[in-house]
Amino acid sequence: MAVAVALLVIVVGSVLFHLASPWWLTPLASHWQQMDNTLAITLAITGAFFVVINLFVAYTLIRHRHRPGRRAAYEPENHRLERWLIGITTVGIVALLAPGLVVYAEYVQPPRDALVVEVLGQQWQWRYRFPGAGGTLGRSDARFVSSANPFGLDPADPAAQDDLLVGANELHLPLGKPVKLLLRSLDVLHDFYVPPFRARMNMVPGMVTWFWFTPTTAGRFEALCAQLCGVGHPEMRGYVVVEDEAAFQAWLRAQPSFAVSVAPPGAAPGGSPVAQGLTLSRSKGCVACHTVDGSAAVGPTWRGLYGRTETFADGSNARVDEAFLNTEIRDPKARVAKGFAPVMPQIELSDAEREALVAYIRSLGGDGAPAPPQQQ
Ligand code: CUA
Repeated sequence: MAVAVALLVIVVGSVLFHLASPWWLTPLASHWQQMDNTLAITLAITGAFFVVINLFVAYTLIRHRHRPGRRAAYEPENHRLERWLIGITTVGIVALLAPGLVVYAEYVQPPRDALVVEVLGQQWQWRYRFPGAGGTLGRSDARFVSSANPFGLDPADPAAQDDLLVGANELHLPLGKPVKLLLRSLDVLHDFYVPPFRARMNMVPGMVTWFWFTPTTAGRFEALCAQLCGVGHPEMRGYVVVEDEAAFQAWLRAQPSFAVSVAPPGAAPGGSPVAQGLTLSRSKGCVACHTVDGSAAVGPTWRGLYGRTETFADGSNARVDEAFLNTEIRDPKARVAKGFAPVMPQIELSDAEREALVAYIRSLGGDGAPAPPQQQ
């Protein structure tokens, strides 16, 4: 009897919790109403089965509870009942799977006029590529990947020269226009996911995956990585800004083309070395693991790092100066600060870039170094 009551409480509690819960879907911001419908069908079917089965178990517990002098009848086979159960289960499973197959088939079948955008995932940042005036994305190959050419674009391909490259974690898209996203990864599995679009897909090293959607609401939506990809995974976030065509075109025009961004080779962005370092710390993904506000994250904070005496995992000490930082960036795993995991990737930087980064870290230090630039 107690078990039957517990089951009843669980059933009623689950239904009430579902109805009263504050955790509902975010408002839909793309045309994928079908995704929500599929989710609703799944919830209705699994919810109905959950309620019916638990109520049935509670009923049988009460109906057939132990009573003196009463014996259960033994019935080894009941073909009629089995046929019914197999039939109902089959209908239930087909109803769970079929809508998903239909929606998925559409999900990877973009309309011909869709705007093509490439998303490149890397530990732990996003990059984006748009075709230039030519309208086609240039060829890419793993052979060409370097710090100056993270997309691995073929310098000999004329179609690659005008490709527009977005090195920041923010992607802009025009409102109401279908978009086909091509997804690539430079290192491990990632997953580009924008919850309000109800759209996501794994990014698999060595292949190009894709899906499409039409943004239906202007706004700024968080994009996140939905595949555990290392210690920096929770920091792998970005934004998708949906805006009207004019604002989108203005933003797109401000993005550098491949031809501009690779020439002169290895050139650091403009401004003072410290300002260049600030820009690099973002574009190279350093800030995914190193804070500048003094709080420890995956790696040591840069606030007050310069000039400090650092202790290493092996117990040795060293003063953090320019020579130290240069060595550390070149070979991050040679010496690891005490209390941190040896996870820093070797990031390809030109000498000028590395020196700009060191100048920026120095500006956050405590040895009377120049003041850091204003945070934007
Ligand atoms: Cu990339 Cu998680």
